[in-house]
Amino acid sequence: MIVYSLLLLILYDFFPKTETFGTVCIGLCHCVGDVVDCSSLDLPDIPNSIPNNTRILLLSDNEIETIDKTRLKGFYFLQTLDLSNNIIRHIDSEFFLNLPNLRVLNLRKNRLPRIPHGSHQLDHLEKLDLRSNLISQISSEELSHLAAIRSVDLSRNLISYLPKPVTSNKVNIEKLDLASNSITDIGSESFSIFSSLISLKLARNHITSLRQFSFSRLRKLESIDLTRNMIREVRFLAFNQLPSLKNVSLAKNDVYRLDDGMFYACEGLSRLNLSTNRVQSVTEGWMFGLTSLEVLDLSYNQIQSFHTSSWSHTPKLKWLSLHSNRIQSLPSGSFRALRQLEELILSANSIDSLHKFALIGMDNLHKLDLSSNTLAVCVEDGAVLYNTSMPFLRSLRFTNNQLRVIPKRAFERFPALEELDLTDNPIATIHPEAFEPLELKKLTMNSSSILCDCQISWLATWIYRLKLDRSTITAKCSYPPPLADLDVIAIDTANLTCHDDSPRAKIVRQPVEVRALIGEQAKFMCNVYGASPLSIEWRVMENGQPRVLVQDSATFLSVNTTAVVNGTLDGRELAAAELVLDNVAMTDNSEYQCVARNRFGSDFSSHVKLLVYQPPKFTYIPSDMSILVGQNAKFLCAAGGTPRPEVKWAFERIPFPAAEARRLYVTQNDDHIYVMNVTMEDQGVYTCHATNIAGQVQASAKLRVFDNKFHHPDSPDSKTIKKGSPIKIDCSVDLQPEHQRIVWKHDHQAILFAKRARFSKHQQLLTVTQTTFSDSGEYSCELWVDDSMLMRKVVNVRVLSETEYDSTEGSLTQRAHEIRAMAAKWAENIKSSAGNGFYLMVSCSAFGFMILGVFCSISVCLIKYSCQRHPKSDPIKPVYV
Ligand SMILES: *[C@@H]1O[C@H](CO)[C@@H](O)[C@H](O)[C@H]1NC(C)=O
Ligand SMILES: *[C@@H]1O[C@H](CO)[C@@H](O)[C@H](O)[C@H]1NC(C)=O
Ligand SMILES: *[C@@H]1O[C@H](CO)[C@@H](O)[C@H](O)[C@H]1NC(C)=O
Ligand SMILES: *[C@@H]1O[C@H](CO)[C@@H](O)[C@H](O)[C@H]1NC(C)=O
Ligand SMILES: *[C@@H]1O[C@H](CO)[C@@H](O)[C@H](O)[C@H]1NC(C)=O
Ligand SMILES: *[C@@H]1O[C@H](CO)[C@@H](O)[C@H](O)[C@H]1NC(C)=O
Ligand SMILES: *[C@@H]1O[C@H](CO)[C@@H](O)[C@H](O)[C@H]1NC(C)=O
Ligand SMILES: *[C@@H]1O[C@H](CO)[C@@H](O)[C@H](O)[C@H]1NC(C)=O
Ligand SMILES: *[C@@H]1O[C@H](CO)[C@@H](O)[C@H](O)[C@H]1NC(C)=O
Repeated sequence: MIVYSLLLLILYDFFPKTETFGTVCIGLCHCVGDVVDCSSLDLPDIPNSIPNNTRILLLSDNEIETIDKTRLKGFYFLQTLDLSNNIIRHIDSEFFLNLPNLRVLNLRKNRLPRIPHGSHQLDHLEKLDLRSNLISQISSEELSHLAAIRSVDLSRNLISYLPKPVTSNKVNIEKLDLASNSITDIGSESFSIFSSLISLKLARNHITSLRQFSFSRLRKLESIDLTRNMIREVRFLAFNQLPSLKNVSLAKNDVYRLDDGMFYACEGLSRLNLSTNRVQSVTEGWMFGLTSLEVLDLSYNQIQSFHTSSWSHTPKLKWLSLHSNRIQSLPSGSFRALRQLEELILSANSIDSLHKFALIGMDNLHKLDLSSNTLAVCVEDGAVLYNTSMPFLRSLRFTNNQLRVIPKRAFERFPALEELDLTDNPIATIHPEAFEPLELKKLTMNSSSILCDCQISWLATWIYRLKLDRSTITAKCSYPPPLADLDVIAIDTANLTCHDDSPRAKIVRQPVEVRALIGEQAKFMCNVYGASPLSIEWRVMENGQPRVLVQDSATFLSVNTTAVVNGTLDGRELAAAELVLDNVAMTDNSEYQCVARNRFGSDFSSHVKLLVYQPPKFTYIPSDMSILVGQNAKFLCAAGGTPRPEVKWAFERIPFPAAEARRLYVTQNDDHIYVMNVTMEDQGVYTCHATNIAGQVQASAKLRVFDNKFHHPDSPDSKTIKKGSPIKIDCSVDLQPEHQRIVWKHDHQAILFAKRARFSKHQQLLTVTQTTFSDSGEYSCELWVDDSMLMRKVVNVRVLSETEYDSTEGSLTQRAHEIRAMAAKWAENIKSSAGNGFYLMVSCSAFGFMILGVFCSISVCLIKYSCQRHPKSDPIKPVYV
């Protein structure tokens, strides 16, 4: 080695002196055509005698420290100059004038403190590699000049600040690598002049935040690498208007805040890496607009939850990793919108339950990783993954889930499954039909906890039949002692025998349904037998998902164990477990389950109900009512409670006339009871009883029935009087003054102390004297009992001036009333006495003729009247009826 170097030095000293054309090619460098390779020669300078027609000159791995302008003079043909791995500190700015056609300049791994001055004069430069130098500063001009070069590598320098570049007239740059510098901030629009940029690398800097428009105007930009910075926040519009953007990595930052709309108008983005940050949730806001996203890496974050609807913004997603987050459960339809998803990684979370529809809609899912969660129960309970069906799933990783038992047909809802990885589960029992009806191609497991009895004897044959690779299957016995540590597959089936008394945890007394009153105590029991130590837990179903109960102020869990000592059955125990729920509430109304485990397996009780009862409580109680004979009474009565109480009515005495006469009605969704066409017998107390298993309540109301009638029901209901003359309204009724009262109203206002109004005959007669126009209007008398009105009578009064009060008109009105009253009496008589349709008809027509006569005689006046004031012909009308 030393001899070799020495020889080189001698040669080097010798050749330059001769200065003959191409002398370096004799012995020193390696020349092939126009390629001259002088690398790794410890040269302290660029040799002089390199042929000036060289196209490619390799000078890497030498000891060159400075380059002066006399070197490589007239190298018109030089296109590639490799000076990497030297110790260059300085390059004369005029040096580059010698190389007008240089395309590739490699200065990687040198000691340059700045971008070499004058390099911008290289009009044809396409690639500039300045990686691993000592550049700490870039001026605005220098940065602008870089725009002309297609590919620039400035990674691994000491740049901490990027100035704002001035404009550049030649923009060719496609690749800019600024990785591994000390840049702390990229202001907005720092890169805007690099409009042709395709790839931008900023990994391993010290950037702390991304502002709005950080990358604006880079319409060709396809890839941004921001891996390993210290970005905490990504602002709204940080990646705005980047139509070509396909690939963004923000991995290994400190991102915890993702503003809504950070990828607004980046419709082309297909890969996004947010791995290893502090993202806490996936929201619609920041996912908005990621319509082309295919790969999303969210591994190693702090995600606890995500909005199911967020995924609707990423319909093309094919690969999603949520490895190592804090997800605890997957609700129904968690990923429903991800119809294209092919691979989903949910490993290393804290998932202990999957809703039965958690993975619904994922029709293209081929690979699913659920490793390192606590999902054993989802398989062991027989409700495999809660009946989640995945018809296209080919590969399932289910390692490290504390799985002990693989029950019958455990994976039958994954009919396409070919690869199953069960590594790192303490499997003790595999049911002979565990993998039915799958056609597995690869099974991976490593259990040394197999319970080697007759039940496992099928395994070896099965593995042989499916031609599975045995090297990925380790199944060692842990019981019985003589077989411990042996491989099940290697044991002669004759030696796999069953004991009457398996050590596997087994529930010997199932819990049973419990009923409890709200506020009281509920108690479940569960007895278990098996090899000690046995562990027993209780679970409750909440919204279709199980939750393990823990002891608290209202939940008491206790277990009493008794060792069973009897010869060969050593180490067995009986455990009696009890779950006591104090002060039960309606929310405890659910299904409960007892789960027993030991190292040989687990057993799951049936789901048993807790029925919490609540005695009935009225929401409406009936109130007293007064009513006239023939009207309909109604009472309201409603009660809540669990189970829903039954409401029944009783009358104060037997018989219950309304019930017997079938005048009692109830309708659905109506809490009223109706007593139709009330009679005097219906008077009394009605009681509403609301009853359920938990109790009974009752409430009563009194019905009072009256039989009042107005004495003059037919008196005219409209009166016209002359101003100044009195109004008299008769409302005589068979009043029961001890209960009933009459209330008079004028235009719906009670008449109380009017000066000109007088009441007489127990208020049954109203007289208003010295009438004025304001006394016109509607008068009513109402018959009240307590706060119910039984009936009312209405009279319309018009007070007219003397001139208006035309005597003809007055007599007309009067006469019309008289006729009407008469007609009503007639009709009444005919109805009650005859009840015969024919008579009625004849009488009516006779009556009609008569009216016609009257009508004709007054028609002239009527016409006159109507011209004046739209006459009311109403008073006459009922006669025809
Ligand atoms: C290249 O070198 C040859 C021989 O030394 C010389 O004649 C020629 O002029 C040189 N060409 C240039 C462009 O300097
Ligand atoms: C996306 O960018 C990352 C990091 O720069 C790179 O490793 C990966 O190959 C790129 N992928 C594509 C498809 O461009
Ligand atoms: C995301 O970035 C991390 C860290 O650089 C890397 O390990 C991982 O493979 C990337 N993910 C994808 C999908 O490229
Ligand atoms: C799963 O499906 C089976 C049969 O289809 C059914 O009996 C069982 O109740 C289901 N389990 C759950 C948790 O839905
Ligand atoms: C099974 O494999 C995992 C990972 O390879 C290892 O951590 C574990 O100890 C192994 N378990 C057994 C019982 O060999
Ligand atoms: C298996 O059974 C054979 C006889 O059937 C016996 O000789 C052998 O010792 C047994 N092996 C073990 C490990 O018990
Ligand atoms: C011990 O076990 C044997 C059978 O294995 C049984 O006949 C006997 O009654 C048991 N004794 C006790 C005390 O449980
Ligand atoms: C456990 O034993 C105690 C004392 O004998 C008894 O009061 C308690 O009810 C027992 N608990 C269960 C779950 O059997
Ligand atoms: C109401 O009851 C009376 C007396 O019982 C009877 O005459 C009348 O027809 C009933 N009316 C109706 C509408 O049921």
